[in-house]
Amino acid sequence: MDKVAVVTGASSGIGAEIARGLARRGWRCVLLARRTDRLQALAAEIGGEAEACDVGDREAVGAAATRILERHPRIGLLVNNAGIPGRSGFEDGDPATIENVMRVNYLGGIWCLRAFLPGLEAAAPSHVVNIVSVAGEVAFPPSGPYSSSKHAQLAFSRATAASLRRRRIRVITVKPGFVETEGFPQSWLPGPLQRIVIGPKEVADRVIASLDGGRAEFSVPLYYGLLGRLQAFIPNTFALALGFGRKTKYHG
Ligand SMILES: NC(=O)c1ccc[n+]([C@@H]2O[C@H](COP(=O)([O-])OP(=O)(O)OC[C@H]3O[C@@H](n4cnc5c(N)ncnc54)[C@H](OP(=O)(O)O)[C@@H]3O)[C@@H](O)[C@H]2O)c1
Repeated sequence: MDKVAVVTGASSGIGAEIARGLARRGWRCVLLARRTDRLQALAAEIGGEAEACDVGDREAVGAAATRILERHPRIGLLVNNAGIPGRSGFEDGDPATIENVMRVNYLGGIWCLRAFLPGLEAAAPSHVVNIVSVAGEVAFPPSGPYSSSKHAQLAFSRATAASLRRRRIRVITVKPGFVETEGFPQSWLPGPLQRIVIGPKEVADRVIASLDGGRAEFSVPLYYGLLGRLQAFIPNTFALALGFGRKTKYHG
């Protein structure tokens, strides 16, 4: 397998930990995000490359991919990880937030896949990892726009898992639960629930292990998968339960 990986959203959190883990396993990582200083510091730490890019800007993604593919015509792995929270309601939330969360979390992965597809095909068998969320299966009211973007990203990931198989590109769908990161601080969760908050390295370790085989879609930790099943099998009861205590201030 060609050992050049493109990791989006690598300037912090889960993306930075995935890049560190990949570098430990001998991958050369090309790090994408908007904060150049952060990317350059990580690139120096792990012996990678920094490329400033807003993944929601289709033209910028195309230009960055052209530069990267000139240096590395074969891309063994694309990690679509860049993402932002969408802490607002549909009824009264800022329209710009509602648009932006779809632009980055959903469309960003599509533009990156399309732009890097020639490199992934040249390196096949290759991998695409999409960092979705348990919010891709559970519509949590206080951050409905975020859940919607992750539902859309989950459909994108599942559809391309099927369509890219024949091109020998394996698409892996990762659905983390609550992870303590800069963009998603979890201090709002009440005391007992703090126990289910994990660190970004736990997600990164699972992602890297998944490159060796096993399930192509999984939750981290695995027990979060139960929530998605509950919403799918008993949607009415589940909606009642989620609506209960709507005044909870959600910061994730
Ligand atoms: N933390 C959680 O509880 C949790 C749970 C499930 C899923 N996730 C998902 O995990 C992924 C990573 O999130 P995280 O928790 O690690 O948060 P984070 O530490 O805030 O990292 C988000 C990353 O995305 C980048 N990013 C944001 N907007 C971007 C844009 N327009 N273009 C390029 N890069 C952009 C950020 O870099 P710049 O600001 O430098 O651009 C940063 O590197 C997201 O997709 C998130 O939805 C997180």
